[in-house]
Amino acid sequence: MSDRYLDLTSGGPGRKIAKTLGLPQPAVLRRTDPDSVDSPLAPGTVLLLTDGTDAAAADAAGIVDHLLGWGVDVRRDTVGVATVGAVVVVATGIGRSGDFTAPALALGAQLRSLGRSGRVVVVYRDAEESDSPALAASRAGIDGFVRTVAKEMRGGATANGIALTGGVDAGAPSPAGALRFLLAARSAFVSGQILHAGPGGSAPADWRRPLSGHVVAVTGAARGIGAQIVAVAARDGAKVVGIDVPAAGEALAATMNAAGGISLQLDVTADDAADRILAAARARYGRLDVVVHNAGILRDKLLANMTEEKFASLVAVNIAAPVRMNETFAAPGALGDADHAARIISLASTSGIAGNRGQSNYSYAKAGIIGMTESLAGAMASAGGTANAVAPGFIETDMTAKIPAVPRQVSRRMSSLQQGGLPVDVAEAICFLASPQAGGINGETLRVCGQLVVGR
Ligand code: NAI
Repeated sequence: MSDRYLDLTSGGPGRKIAKTLGLPQPAVLRRTDPDSVDSPLAPGTVLLLTDGTDAAAADAAGIVDHLLGWGVDVRRDTVGVATVGAVVVVATGIGRSGDFTAPALALGAQLRSLGRSGRVVVVYRDAEESDSPALAASRAGIDGFVRTVAKEMRGGATANGIALTGGVDAGAPSPAGALRFLLAARSAFVSGQILHAGPGGSAPADWRRPLSGHVVAVTGAARGIGAQIVAVAARDGAKVVGIDVPAAGEALAATMNAAGGISLQLDVTADDAADRILAAARARYGRLDVVVHNAGILRDKLLANMTEEKFASLVAVNIAAPVRMNETFAAPGALGDADHAARIISLASTSGIAGNRGQSNYSYAKAGIIGMTESLAGAMASAGGTANAVAPGFIETDMTAKIPAVPRQVSRRMSSLQQGGLPVDVAEAICFLASPQAGGINGETLRVCGQLVVGR
């Protein structure tokens, strides 16, 4: 589904008219070129700023090692720099609220030189691990700061935070993996978000194919977001099992053939769904490592007009099925092995965070996904795995194409990036969470919504 307003205003006279009239000016976002994944990683030089403390200097040194290893041009100042592609602020040493003024203003001074689809990433320590109100305040404040900077970005640029947990250094595998994701085109539609990264995880053998050797099962794989998850996972090196209802068998076969994976025609509400998915993956690939609960349906109605059939059928597919299947997938030994960590990733929605008129059933199910994920995280971690969720906002799919024209236009412009996301944007976030470098990210719900102006 194309966004004609974006096409019209992305250059030439249309852009000038939009500017003159004060209308939204969405930018064409930098997305990953499948032929040259992550190359170059950032759209220009990466400028590294710190809060001036020894702690931040040590964390910055760890980050610099990674950036240089990834072939990034990284500098401490902008002397002689043509385009600033990203600014990384390391604020892991602040102890009082006043300590953040200098790094905040140093970042502010660079924002005008940030190139199109540029990136701001602030790395700091999670407020929840603070031992005094003053420390907690100085850290928690950065959450709000990052969300506001994201709203002030222009030209498709984004701002996000990495909150370190569990005493981890900024250069540890998962914070570094999160930094790479947030700098890269892969995170095109992620803005205003805080990723909590702790110990665990490891750098992939090949950053361009981080899922190499992993076996990934995706439900609802025939079309839309599910089909893109299959394609991106295959691009990243995974072997893929795609699951969808028999009625979508033809589309499923087309998707899976293109990705070189296998199809399984199955309704996820079946009692034996998880066993059949495991059996199919093991029969073909000997193992299953990652499960993506993507299958979902809509049955919108105002609650006053809601029927039992609409509420119950949606709950059965969107939340009861993942919960039941996870009783099998989260059991010891079901997913992964010594070399491949277990991952369960589920599709939530911004409707489950902020609510959405006409979607009481859907919001119930999607908020349930977030609760299920947080609860699963501990059990998964004890065996070295993770459970995370991704909450898309307005994504251009067959589902959102059915929204009448005017509300559809309004919904698109309601995010800081002033446009809908693409299925590939959601798929990129899911494949990042599935990858070895995300092993220290657990129990999170990552929004892929262009910073939709709803929710927290
Ligand atoms: P879609 O309707 O295009 O695709 C969903 C797929 O799930 C279809 O292929 C369908 O056949 C399959 N499916 C439905 N019931 C099934 C069942 N019982 N067993 C097996 N497969 C089944 O939907 P879309 O837009 O790709 O959404 C994918 C996921 O992302 C859903 O969980 C949805 O709730 C979520 N999401 C989508 C958003 C959007 O803007 N498109 C926004 C927020 C969340």
